[in-house]
Amino acid sequence: MLVQIPGVLSSEQVLHARQLLDAADWVDGRVTAGSQSAQVKNNLQLPEDHPAARELGDLILTALQNSALFASAALPLRVFPPLFNLYRGGQSFGNHVDNAIRQISGTPLRIRTDLSATLFLAEPDEYDGGELIIDDVYGVQAVKLPAGHLVLYPSSSLHRVQPVTRGARLASFFWVQSMVRDDAARTMLFDLDTSIQRLGTDVPGHPSIVELTAVYHNLVRRWAEL
Ligand code: NI
Repeated sequence: MLVQIPGVLSSEQVLHARQLLDAADWVDGRVTAGSQSAQVKNNLQLPEDHPAARELGDLILTALQNSALFASAALPLRVFPPLFNLYRGGQSFGNHVDNAIRQISGTPLRIRTDLSATLFLAEPDEYDGGELIIDDVYGVQAVKLPAGHLVLYPSSSLHRVQPVTRGARLASFFWVQSMVRDDAARTMLFDLDTSIQRLGTDVPGHPSIVELTAVYHNLVRRWAEL
């Protein structure tokens, strides 16, 4: 399942992020790539311990904690501290799959990457190319979102970033270990939760709402791993 989450960051927060990132020193993006990815990865990245990465990463994690849509779609157990990348001058990232397990640097923690996330930090008209292309079960999806919007997709998907032929594409990217590992199960829970929310708005107080909510929580109890 591919889910778009609009407005994770406000325009003021995007502006603040841009000011910090414009002033930062970037390094070769191959520092965090696995051996297959490194052969096709051509971009720039902010070092993981860069103060701007830490500050903006915390800003993004707080914004995600306040997003009901992110909570419902990802059912997050752990979120990898957000990283930042930059593509310009024809740079691209060829077809690859993200590493299954990632160490959170400076900690003993590892996460299983169930979901991959890209948070766009440049407006689509600021650059040509740079679409995130995802091989979804329903076909190939090309994603290029307004600044502050996020896309979540299964980390099991093959994906790539098209060459940026004009301007610069700035984004944050990170991974989520979900309480529900299986994408199909997680998708059903998201659909059920979305329907219950809609029913609550359209027919407030309907007795089926509490019954369906019980089904939702009992499925989470059945499938969640903590
Ligand atoms: Ni990737």
